[in-house]
Amino acid sequence: MNKSSMVDSNRGALSVMACDSGKPFAQRIIQELNNITQQEKLGITHHLKYTEDVYFPNGEIKVVIHENIRGDDIYIVQAMDDPLSDKSVNDNLMALLTAVHAAYQSDADHITVVLPQFPYSRQERRKTREAISAKLIAGMLELAGAQRVITLDIHAEAIQGFFNFAKLEDLHASGVFVDYLQNIMRIDPLNLVVTSPDVGSVERARRYSKVLGAELAVVDKARDYTKVSVIESMRLVGDVTNKDVLLVDDMISTGGTMINAMKLLRKNGAKKITILASLPFFTGNCIEKFDKAYHEGLMDLVIGTDAVFHGRKFVEHTPWYKEVSVAPLFAHVIYNINMKRSVSELLK
Ligand code: R5P
Repeated sequence: MNKSSMVDSNRGALSVMACDSGKPFAQRIIQELNNITQQEKLGITHHLKYTEDVYFPNGEIKVVIHENIRGDDIYIVQAMDDPLSDKSVNDNLMALLTAVHAAYQSDADHITVVLPQFPYSRQERRKTREAISAKLIAGMLELAGAQRVITLDIHAEAIQGFFNFAKLEDLHASGVFVDYLQNIMRIDPLNLVVTSPDVGSVERARRYSKVLGAELAVVDKARDYTKVSVIESMRLVGDVTNKDVLLVDDMISTGGTMINAMKLLRKNGAKKITILASLPFFTGNCIEKFDKAYHEGLMDLVIGTDAVFHGRKFVEHTPWYKEVSVAPLFAHVIYNINMKRSVSELLK
């Protein structure tokens, strides 16, 4: 199929497959890959490889690949948190591991895992007698046969070091977010303060404030690590009086961190509050909490990415939510890897 790409890149044919929860995002990547190959006049049309997630009555999972992938440069897409199904993160993780191993057993030349939501990324260091689970995930992916992992705004950069031989490519949603803020929302940087809801995201917020030319403030959040999702205290460092605020984080899970930060910001005189989150998981009753916050005037907008797929209905009918797509970014990175072109150029 892919003669010209093989001649140009000296790498196997670019092919994409996905486990069930990764299929919506994989389809968007395919669409973008086809736009790229059309622009480059390669005469190639990509399609999603035919695979099947098989569930056994006892809960065991396997992924079966129904097409030949021998010699391919294969990209395996999976979402860990799939709001549209009742599959757990652990189900999706196990499906991914079996898919990677199936690709290895099927003699793919290069195996890249496309994993925008890196699982267990918040367990990257030990707080008490517990596992460093993110390291375990890195090891399991390598054991299955992954040679490269492409992810999005990974929670802790230290995770890069957890891989022994596979390469981790950490992409950033900031490019699409900044484009949306500047060209669609037309934000006024002089009236804007960028804020992180905890010190873990200060670096992220600092980068946005620099690129946008806006001031920076920080919410200092202390957690009680003996309990799940319990926040001990919060205080604001910086001035947001009469300013619009951009609240930036890698993920929204239960929404507790954001809601508390927004209350603090409002108390301190913030006007319009916009949230940016690369991974809007909206776990548990988070959507109800945000609905309430929106209708009570606590916040104005959440901008998330399609790395977490909430479905068209949610995206089109939720007044406080705007989805931007990172699929073109992933497609360009995949394409450049296959063509042995620079990836860092795309990450600037
Ligand atoms: C924590 O360090 C993360 O960056 C997020 O702030 C956190 O995971 C969000 O969790 P939740 O929405 O449950 O408060």
